[in-house]
Amino acid sequence: MSSVKQSGSFTLGNREVWRLGYGAMQLAGPGVFGPPKDPQTAVKVLQAALDAGVNHIDTSDFYGPHVTNQIIKQALHPYPQELTIVTKVSARRDDKGNWLPALSAPELTQAVEDNLRNLGLDVLEVVNLRSMISAHGPAEGSLEEPLETLIKLKDRGLIRHIGLSNVTAKQVEDGQKMTDIACVQNFYNVANRHDDALIDSLAKQNIPYVPFFPLGGFTPLQSQELDEIAANLNAMPMQVALAWLLQRAPNILLIPGTSSLGHLNENLTAAHLTLPKDALDVLNNLPQALG
Ligand SMILES: NC(=O)c1ccc[n+]([C@@H]2O[C@H](COP(=O)([O-])OP(=O)(O)OC[C@H]3O[C@@H](n4cnc5c(N)ncnc54)[C@H](OP(=O)(O)O)[C@@H]3O)[C@@H](O)[C@H]2O)c1
Repeated sequence: MSSVKQSGSFTLGNREVWRLGYGAMQLAGPGVFGPPKDPQTAVKVLQAALDAGVNHIDTSDFYGPHVTNQIIKQALHPYPQELTIVTKVSARRDDKGNWLPALSAPELTQAVEDNLRNLGLDVLEVVNLRSMISAHGPAEGSLEEPLETLIKLKDRGLIRHIGLSNVTAKQVEDGQKMTDIACVQNFYNVANRHDDALIDSLAKQNIPYVPFFPLGGFTPLQSQELDEIAANLNAMPMQVALAWLLQRAPNILLIPGTSSLGHLNENLTAAHLTLPKDALDVLNNLPQALG
């Protein structure tokens, strides 16, 4: 069985996706700004992900901006029926690449239209509203107004499902009073486990939790424990980090990002790895905020 299928599946919106997916952010240029150094490899990475069985890709039109979505369209359009593309809105880039909040109704509407156009879609399957209340992770505050805008866009048929990103448990609960929340996408990995309770609560509700920076993000995880476990299992440290996430909870969907075909292959074979209890014990007690 392919590793992607071996990862198992979970319902996202009303579609079944394999738990091993792909995050497209690394396909833009340095700093997620401008075109990639090697556009041909970017196209090949996307095609290889689908060849390996991936049917869940995470993106945003503010990656590049526009660039990542345009590469996805170039590489994969017309999309296979089983492919679920999830995007996110709430930010725009200035001409230096800074990330600025863009949460007004006209800005969110523009972002949805930009995603539709650049991806070549008539409807976006899942749109995550990413909170921009704080630059340093989830922070309390109302998301009611932007969520209302997205609900209107959903009513217009431009969005099928709404998710939330960079949010607190309270913001998820408040959002659920307004509309169905299809998924939550927050910063989480083996060394950054602030969301443990939220993951468990979402698992009870059959709502996917999609960790961003599953490998540590711009500063990939570095840990002696990961290295040692990987060496003992004849695997790579990043495969161990992904296997730990797969074993952490059934509602965790993975979207590791890479611009490299070699790393893609490593990441998409992580589900072949089953971590034994002694390795899980070490990883479950890993010092936090390593990377
Ligand atoms: N909602 C949000 O606010 C938010 C924020 C950030 C990201 N995201 C989403 O989450 C996805 C995943 O996040 P991410 O890509 O930033 O971080 P990530 O998956 O944690 O890690 C990506 C980094 O790890 C490296 N890498 C990947 N596979 C590797 C391997 N097997 N061995 C060694 N290094 C490896 C990549 O470099 P190479 O390119 O050289 O492989 C890149 O530097 C993104 O693509 C994006 O879709 C969402």
